[in-house]
Amino acid sequence: MRLSSLATLLLAAMPAALIAQTATLTIDTSTPKAHVSPSLYGLMTEEINYSYDGGLYAELLNNRTFENNRYPGLAHWTLVQNGDARATITPDKTTGPSEALAHSLKLTVTEADAHSSAGFLNDGYWGIPLRANTVYHSSFYAKSDGNLGPVTIRLVNDNTGAAEATATVAALTSDWKQYSFTLKTGAIAASSTNHFEITVAHPGTAWFSLVSLFPPTYRNTPNGNRIDIMEKLAAMHPAFLRFPGGNYLEGDTIAERFDWKKTIGPLVDRPTHMSPWRYRSTDGMGLLEFLEWCEDLHMQPLLAVYAGYSLRGEHVNPGADLEPYVQDALDEIEYVTGPTSSRWGAERAKDGHPAPFHLSYVEIGNEDWFDRSGSYEGRYAQFSKAIKAQYPQLQLIATMPVKSVKPDVVDDHFYRSAQQFFEDVHHYDAIDRNGPKIFVGEWATREGGPTTNFGAALGDAAWMTGMERNSDLIVMASYAPLFVNVNPGGMQWSSDLIGYDALHSYGSPSYYAQSMFAEHLGDEILNAKLDASNPRLFQSVTYDSKRHHVIIKLVNASSAAQAVTIKLDGAKHVQPKATVVTLAGKSTQETNSITDPTRVTPVTTAITNAAATFTHTVPRYAIQVLDLTVE
Ligand code: AHR
Repeated sequence: MRLSSLATLLLAAMPAALIAQTATLTIDTSTPKAHVSPSLYGLMTEEINYSYDGGLYAELLNNRTFENNRYPGLAHWTLVQNGDARATITPDKTTGPSEALAHSLKLTVTEADAHSSAGFLNDGYWGIPLRANTVYHSSFYAKSDGNLGPVTIRLVNDNTGAAEATATVAALTSDWKQYSFTLKTGAIAASSTNHFEITVAHPGTAWFSLVSLFPPTYRNTPNGNRIDIMEKLAAMHPAFLRFPGGNYLEGDTIAERFDWKKTIGPLVDRPTHMSPWRYRSTDGMGLLEFLEWCEDLHMQPLLAVYAGYSLRGEHVNPGADLEPYVQDALDEIEYVTGPTSSRWGAERAKDGHPAPFHLSYVEIGNEDWFDRSGSYEGRYAQFSKAIKAQYPQLQLIATMPVKSVKPDVVDDHFYRSAQQFFEDVHHYDAIDRNGPKIFVGEWATREGGPTTNFGAALGDAAWMTGMERNSDLIVMASYAPLFVNVNPGGMQWSSDLIGYDALHSYGSPSYYAQSMFAEHLGDEILNAKLDASNPRLFQSVTYDSKRHHVIIKLVNASSAAQAVTIKLDGAKHVQPKATVVTLAGKSTQETNSITDPTRVTPVTTAITNAAATFTHTVPRYAIQVLDLTVE
């Protein structure tokens, strides 16, 4: 048989999907379409899936203020009775270290001595992570009846019973007082099968509150964040942080909203609150901590203010009833941006941050289309009028279209399947450029869990090509949810970007797709036309005018490799050598996980055939960034 006949036979035997015709991508390098929004890619965050408590916020003790009771006792706290010791622990609503924390844990020891200590332990957020030669900062508020003697604090290995670190507080006073100390581990193996223990060796009674334990934090900030997770966020090059929600801003009821004034100042003055994701927030991550998080990662804050609607349908009517909430938002903006001579700027200085923060965007509410009363039109107008009167420079974001006043920006949300995103990549192509700008404040391909799989990353990347091509209109975009604690019971919303347990964290394929898109982004959008028979091939092209680089993003969501002839119209010289960053999956179901954290990660290679016209093959199931030097 002649070779050509054999080839014809083989081709005829292959499934049609594996034979992709060469596509053509024609790029106009001479006239950019528009500027890319410099703040296009950012982060959206809220307390969900143990995002802060048991997540980013580095506190290691669970239920540190003893608010959570779980039959038959206090959640995460267990009585310790060594040897012949006899003791009880009970919640006490009659005494606490502050007005905000007006209750405590009461320890009553009836029998104890040097060989038989008694007290209580905490099991942390699915364990307490301990590492070798590490200093942990710990503290508690306490008072006693004067009989207890010294208090011993230990970090104990669950499996061996060994004390990995020990500290002592000499004696407790009869008035509430904070005690601080450090615990240092030795040459131990890292593990999270540990607990925290407080014991005494003498009968007596004592009350405890706000018992806290912190590992080293990002930039050693007291009350700070987990280092590994902050490093993962930094690698995403986020331009902004949308906070504090999401549903978490609204709360299930008005009383359970994110009431920012109760989240500032010393921790002992923060009452904590129930979140709509049905666990209690410590509010250790309060308004100032969100702002400092922005500062640490050079993100601009995008502050969402509570706008008078809560998830179970309670709403505040526009007019006089809404005034206190509008004033609260004005106070909040002053806390963020005001000079220290202002009432709330002075409060911020007292809390440890005299310098004001730069703020450009304020979002009024969250997903107010759920408010069936139709009150958002009036609520938005009232907030907008008051904020613009005092802060005309602020860009205001509406959570749905409104008619009586033109918002600067409208927030659109998309939770979709990959196929839905593929079919809608031209969503913004024909939108009126004279209307409000767009903030895609929440979006995600919801495939895979707890973190998304490679198929989701393909849906995300396709959608991002559409957002980039329209980034004259879309000023900002942020994926949601950002975090999930992967332990049983940690997740309320599947399909999340970054997963972790007490000791480790990892990025999903979607995380890597986003990091690639944000890291490789020009400042001008180039007009590009894709001629392809493959309906699952997507593109966006931007130009980095400082470096003279053309950045081409190609997403091949099909199971066959795709050859693309790239034509750079108007380019005088294209350097043959160019870099290609590839994120590829063997199937749509391939994924990263806590036990296999780096299965799918980007790989950087070089090509040497770049030219004004050249052909490049995108592998099957692949997301690629081609970075070309073009003059
Ligand atoms: O991202 C999860 C939730 O989805 C957000 O809290 C809410 O705004 C949206 O409905």
